[in-house]
Amino acid sequence: MRELDIFDTTLRDGEQSAGINLNTAEKIEIARQLERFGATIIEAGFPAASTGDFEAVQRIAGTVKNSIVTGLARSVKSDIDRAWEALKGAEQPHIHIFLATSPIHMEHKLLKTPEQVVEIAVDSVKYARQFFPLVQWSAEDASRSDPEFLAYIIQKVIQAGATTINLPDTVGYATPSEYGAMFRYMKENVQGIEKVKLSAHCHDDLGMATANTLAAIENGADQIEGTINGIGERAGNVALEEIVVALHIRKQLYGINTSVNLQEIKRTSQLVSQLTGSFIQSNKAIVGKNAFAHESGIHQDGMLKNPLTYEIITPALIGDASTELVLGKHSGRHAFKDRAIKMGFELSDEKLNKAFAEFKKLADSKKEIVQDDLFILLTDQQIND
Ligand code: KIV
Ligand code: ZN
Repeated sequence: MRELDIFDTTLRDGEQSAGINLNTAEKIEIARQLERFGATIIEAGFPAASTGDFEAVQRIAGTVKNSIVTGLARSVKSDIDRAWEALKGAEQPHIHIFLATSPIHMEHKLLKTPEQVVEIAVDSVKYARQFFPLVQWSAEDASRSDPEFLAYIIQKVIQAGATTINLPDTVGYATPSEYGAMFRYMKENVQGIEKVKLSAHCHDDLGMATANTLAAIENGADQIEGTINGIGERAGNVALEEIVVALHIRKQLYGINTSVNLQEIKRTSQLVSQLTGSFIQSNKAIVGKNAFAHESGIHQDGMLKNPLTYEIITPALIGDASTELVLGKHSGRHAFKDRAIKMGFELSDEKLNKAFAEFKKLADSKKEIVQDDLFILLTDQQIND
């Protein structure tokens, strides 16, 4: 079995979502839960960004002991110094330095030549290594960078002392085959790549973050980065819960272990949603309200006969209460009877049929049938003997 590191950036890239702003106490609460969740690395913030971020990173570095704590820094000494101040109390100080490598970013944002970018990257990694035993270097916009240039700069930063190389799909532009190929290319063309960890970081602008992350894993990534519930810039980052559950459910295919405790997924997801105020869409994979809800009669009938017919993941796996058979206009008599019995009604077949017919009429006129509707309907049949 291969081991995969899980790098959580809920508190950094996740907090960069429009409208999200966590205070230090909230960040500490989330970081503690991420530790229970089993993240290998927690990116606690961007120490040079604000006094609040600095304080949160420092407090988390002093609190969290079972996950490595890191902070983001631009490739400038002042950011690295600030990160060191915030992280020097951590068990294993780790810094995450980034610099853009795509032509569009180098020319129009950094206003630097590729040669200057290489020099800045090398200098910043060398500088950071004076303090930090663990230095992650990210090639921002890697997926839109020239592969040969990317291989060259990666080789240089490895020589300068980087311990992890991250290849972000910063704008969620890559397709799974392209993203996977980039990992394969770096493995085959960068001298010294075997000495470092290779990391994937995917954004979901085209809805491909999960597929892209799995493609990176298939092509040798040692670490994946993402957030809880997929929060993050624009359309968000890859949702970590989707990756770790996919790896678990398809263990024979991937042959991968992570340190994540799947039982903590639901709790972590709810805490992040509550503290960030970001709503989870009801059909969101793994953690959405409807992820384990079945409404159609055919599905409900199958579920009652054998849950494996329509359920590849059990709610129990992620620490959730239980599967829900939602009663609505698509539901069948079998699920209706099952619910009536669970509610304590024992009706003759004739009464049950009448109640079911009433239920179907009601379901046609209402968006959702709640427990009280069923109670009234079943009681009516029981009384009208
Ligand atoms: O998406 C991105 O490129 C980032 C970097 C800072 C790693 O978040
Ligand atoms: Zn990002």
